[in-house]
Amino acid sequence: MAKKIIKSLPDMAKARNRVDLPTVKIDEVMVTTRVAKFAQGRRYLIKTFGCQANIRDEEIMAGYLEKAGFTRTEDEKAANLVIVNTCAVRENAEEKVLGEIGKYKANHAKDKSFVMCVCGCMMQEEGVAEKIVATYPYVNLIFGTHNVSNLLDLLDEHLEKNKDLIDVISYPGDIVENLPSSRLDPYKAFVNITYGCDKFCTYCIVPYTRGRERSRAKEDIIAECKELVEAGYQEITLLGQNVNSYGKDFKDGTSFADILEEVAKLGIPRLRFMTSHPWDFDDKMIDTIAKYPNIMHFIHLPVQSGSDEVLRRMGRRYDKKAYLDLVAKIRAKIPDCAISTDIIVGFPDETDADFEETLDVCRKVGYFSAFTFIYSPRKGTPAAVMKDDVDAKTKHERFVRLVATIEESVSAKANAMVGHTYAVLVDGPSKKDSDLLSGYTETNKLVHFKAPTYLKGHIVDVKIDESHTYSLIGTLVGDPLSYMAKDIAKCLGEEEVVKAYFAAKKAFDEDLSLKEINAKISAKQKEMMDFSAKNDTDNYEKAKAEYLKAKQSYDGHPLVNNLLAAQDDLEPLLKEVEARLK
Ligand code: SAH
Ligand code: SF4
Ligand code: F3S
Repeated sequence: MAKKIIKSLPDMAKARNRVDLPTVKIDEVMVTTRVAKFAQGRRYLIKTFGCQANIRDEEIMAGYLEKAGFTRTEDEKAANLVIVNTCAVRENAEEKVLGEIGKYKANHAKDKSFVMCVCGCMMQEEGVAEKIVATYPYVNLIFGTHNVSNLLDLLDEHLEKNKDLIDVISYPGDIVENLPSSRLDPYKAFVNITYGCDKFCTYCIVPYTRGRERSRAKEDIIAECKELVEAGYQEITLLGQNVNSYGKDFKDGTSFADILEEVAKLGIPRLRFMTSHPWDFDDKMIDTIAKYPNIMHFIHLPVQSGSDEVLRRMGRRYDKKAYLDLVAKIRAKIPDCAISTDIIVGFPDETDADFEETLDVCRKVGYFSAFTFIYSPRKGTPAAVMKDDVDAKTKHERFVRLVATIEESVSAKANAMVGHTYAVLVDGPSKKDSDLLSGYTETNKLVHFKAPTYLKGHIVDVKIDESHTYSLIGTLVGDPLSYMAKDIAKCLGEEEVVKAYFAAKKAFDEDLSLKEINAKISAKQKEMMDFSAKNDTDNYEKAKAEYLKAKQSYDGHPLVNNLLAAQDDLEPLLKEVEARLK
């Protein structure tokens, strides 16, 4: 009997297909007794390469494994089940992946029940799964981006039949809801709004590895975001290969601006989104970003190239002028908006003049940050068969010049931040110096500063002292405890009795009849003092009678009684706070 069961293998022609309509499936998350028994006492580890789509897949796979009973470990040697979650966007990403799989040979040698899984975008490429099983015979499960939600079923079948399985489907793709999730960060969350991509930029493998562009229903996105807000998350990033396309597949006028606005209204302190395609970035999106203070003034707007001819061959659907006009429009409405980008150098037959156009865009935009790549041919994409007479040395020289040009604006923008104070969401201890904390500004700039670790997850003010181009050094503004106090105040403010008290207080403060009564009480008190000083007993008694009448109407006023009752209701909560502070 064959040791491997090949259930399906990827097919690039099928992956190109965009015909069928997607279906929405509700996952039941079934854990068989076999899987649950196996998971007992076993630890899993997931190594993820690539973009946020893969990070989110990792969280979902972690969700399945934890539902089954596995616990997470970061210790490679201690892992009983490892998943290598791969990226196919460039060739070097693949090389790293192969090295990673090689690391777990010892786990297999030590523990015969060790389960080695490989998944992600690279598996969606033809021939890769076969190459992996031939090179690494201890790989037990191979699956793709479309069947992440089958992880536990595949594991069950592997355990039941004692066989290795390959199941990589190429089809446009469905939407699965009710996915379990074990999020990697307690304060910052990614939320998928669209899956896949229909842009088919000629260099890019993503439309083949992730399938057709499909939007999640608005209600499902809102429900997920609401849960995150309630759980105390500070930041949500709405994810899609091209977020601007959100809702277009519903054909009912829904747009990205709508979902952005609805999520902003949920009150998440920081809202981000990525990635935006310059082609269909409309005015409504710009207006929405400008309107809500919790939508961060940071836009990742990949330009890829500044040359109209290269952009045309890339299939990007905009030219240099359209891109620069869009940037100008964004800056006109959101003057402090930071813009970052992705740029590919050395696209087939890129000339020196083409490359100069790219440098020109960089100088004109003044990017806040940028990811730069040397073009990497991807088998099955149209660009992979384009003629390319540019040698590797020229490409490398251009890459070095591009990085230097970008650094000019990155450095100028970072230097301009010195001396100013910015809100920073604290991630925790800094990776480069554990005595420091680090976090990101609203414009996504990394800042290191000294402060107590209990500020993790808080948004604090930091004054920037020094720029190191790609990161900043700063000083915390204010007493660290004051941020905690604000938090306590916020929590208390959510208690019903506190809300009722403030409502009663507002009604009390704003009532005109009470203002009149109060004015009368003060006036009569003053009269009483004056008449008493003059020994004018008659008038004194008259003023006193009017004073007592006014006092009586004050004491009997319903808004006064409401406020007193609300104060009484608050008493137990205040006692509790007092007891905890002792
Ligand atoms: N959907 C996003 C991200 C796609 S992948 C977008 O459209 O911007 C992230 C980046 O990888 C791309 O923006 C592009 O700059 C780069 N990239 C994609 N394919 C590549 C290739 N074949 N060679 C080099 N870089 C590539
Ligand atoms: Fe790739 Fe273009 Fe889609 Fe981005 S928009 S994922 S670069 S095909
Ligand atoms: Fe890589 Fe797949 Fe993302 S190819 S960049 S992990 S969509």
